[in-house]
Amino acid sequence: MSPPIIPGQRPRLKRKNDKKKMKNPSLAFFLTLAAASLAASAAPTGNAEAGKTKSTTCAACHGEDGNSKTGDFPRLAGQHADYLYNALTHYRAGKRKNPIMAVFVRDLNPQEMADLAAYFSSQKGLEIKY
Ligand code: HEC
Repeated sequence: MSPPIIPGQRPRLKRKNDKKKMKNPSLAFFLTLAAASLAASAAPTGNAEAGKTKSTTCAACHGEDGNSKTGDFPRLAGQHADYLYNALTHYRAGKRKNPIMAVFVRDLNPQEMADLAAYFSSQKGLEIKY
């Protein structure tokens, strides 16, 4: 419906996005927050000590502390825990495809992946030198 035309007043021109505008932006904000907090609570809290025990199978390629010796294997030391956790869950779900990693995550549960992520993230990685 177009706005009423008041004599002597210029009618408001219809803007391109008029219809797309959310009536209540605070509702959208609230929903985004709720979704974000739900997603965040889905990841278990990692235990670095427990992760260290499980990391022996990873050491052959990624190094004992996550500092891999060759460029063929990504360095895990000092990486953000949530990044590592997501990478592991993605390999497991087949969202990220790699035949090698697929084998090593196959028998890991979410808690073990969080523990491994906590361990490697707590190790000293590369230092940035400018
Ligand atoms: C036989 C060698 C090998 C073993 C053992 C291995 N990985 Fe990997 N890992 C790789 C390779 C190769 C990649 C890179 C794959 C790719 O390109 O996605 C990788 C990638 C990763 C990544 C993603 C890194 C990034 O920067 O995105 C994580 C996290 C990871 N491995 C964790 C582990 C953990 C934890 C274990 C032990 C449970 C493990 N890996 C065992 C070879 C290995």
